[in-house]
Amino acid sequence: MKNELHADRILIVDFGSQVTQLIARRVRESGVYCEIHPFNAVTAQSIRQFGPKGIILSGGPASVTEAETPRAPQELFDLGLPVFGICYGEQTMVAQMGGDVTLSDHREFGRAHVDIVGDCVLFEGVWKTGENHQVWMSHGDRIDRLPDGFRTVASTATAPYAAIANDDRRFYAVQFHPEVVHTPDGARLISNFTHRVCGCGGDWTMAAFKDEAIEKVRSQVGSGRVICGLSGGVDSSVVAVLLHEAIGDQLTCVFVDHGLMRMNEADEVVTLFRDHYNIPLVHKDASEMFLGKLTGVSDPETKRKIIGGLFIDVFEAEARAVGGADFLAQGTLYPDVIESVSFTGGPSVTIKSHHNVGGLPERMNMQLVEPLRELFKDEVRELGRELGLPDSFVGRHPFPGPGLAIRMPGAIQPENLDILRKADAIYLDEIRKAGLYDEIWQAFAVLLPVQTVGVMGDARTYDYVCALRAVTSTDGMTADIYPFTMEFLGRVTSRIINQVQGINRVVYDCTSKPPGTIEWE
Ligand code: XMP
Repeated sequence: MKNELHADRILIVDFGSQVTQLIARRVRESGVYCEIHPFNAVTAQSIRQFGPKGIILSGGPASVTEAETPRAPQELFDLGLPVFGICYGEQTMVAQMGGDVTLSDHREFGRAHVDIVGDCVLFEGVWKTGENHQVWMSHGDRIDRLPDGFRTVASTATAPYAAIANDDRRFYAVQFHPEVVHTPDGARLISNFTHRVCGCGGDWTMAAFKDEAIEKVRSQVGSGRVICGLSGGVDSSVVAVLLHEAIGDQLTCVFVDHGLMRMNEADEVVTLFRDHYNIPLVHKDASEMFLGKLTGVSDPETKRKIIGGLFIDVFEAEARAVGGADFLAQGTLYPDVIESVSFTGGPSVTIKSHHNVGGLPERMNMQLVEPLRELFKDEVRELGRELGLPDSFVGRHPFPGPGLAIRMPGAIQPENLDILRKADAIYLDEIRKAGLYDEIWQAFAVLLPVQTVGVMGDARTYDYVCALRAVTSTDGMTADIYPFTMEFLGRVTSRIINQVQGINRVVYDCTSKPPGTIEWE
């Protein structure tokens, strides 16, 4: 298949920075396909095989002044390809090209301002010589001497080589992080690298991706049958609509309702997909079975395991009931793929067992169809829009597989689920009315297993506490709390207490991640 979409591609060599994925997202936003490969898996041969038009070296936590630290393979610099080093990537480029890097006694973290001291293709249309611009620094090493052929194009008082260039070899490097939002012009610098330096076109768009993905699914699936677990979340919804466009009625979706969905959620999902999209959808109301097994269970991991196990049982039974399938569709995203090949091998301790359909493909002898494997979450949302999914679905906050079970700490009491649903619906309604929904990554109510004393009218109350959570995040890995005004929190609180019987106290969760997690369990 002719594959223009991926023809112009950038390789990002990962040295373990927390923000390497942001580099990839900025490259993609510039309309160019890219992949992240861990530094220790990159060789001259693997680069040639991948066939990039340019290479970006990421930042990383190490210091190049230590003996055993990550290096790019030396041949990377001899392939005639443009290279852009960022932070650690700059330092290792300088060290490997024959310059000097030392451990600085002046570490620099946070906002800084660079003086532009020379013209540079990276700055074209963005920064001019003599100007001064905000960037985000985070480094401990200092460059003492540039390798031959390099010149300085930007500097700060503490980082004299804040940006350097070797035009003959098309090597560029910056000590700051152009990929983060705190470097306001950073995305345009990266775009200058992909387009002006590397000569990439701008073929990577979700409109083009959609067409290609549909073709790929058709050729993978042939005349086989595909089954897809539809939760109503963004990823599974986009997979379902994409597959339906590709293979029509060869697709069956199964929506397992575990009784732990939010207010009206099950109806909304079923109506949208069955009535609006005409997608063959099995709606299995398994709430009695799930709640029967969960009532009284209080340990978070036990809750997750029970739900994950039952989900697979129900899904498998429903799949068999519709005559089985050759393929299982999953909404695996690129960050999951990167995580599983990263040189740290992903998190070393299990903080939470995520609920998914792992194990099913082997059990049912199915192959996987994963049409979103190359995409970041924001690309999935854009693809959803391309496929005509309503904004209200595409822009939805993530909702965890185990649902409200993990938003009810302590023993699960099914009779309290409605209390939680009502409080959650009021909270989200107020967020929407205030126009804040899209600024927030995730917002939800949690019902605490604690009763406190209150007074309403002239009467004593003894009811539950409701906690409100709202965070901003780019990927769910880290999160900051959303800074609501007290006026807003007061309004939500009084509505919840007045309208939800069973709650007489509302608190706001002010914990970022880390040290907290987003969900309470
Ligand atoms: P935590 O609570 O670990 O959550 O900070 C990070 C993100 O993951 C979501 N989450 C889940 N999503 N199945 C899912 O599909 C799960 O079991 C699960 N647990 C947490 C959570 O809502 C947040 O967006």
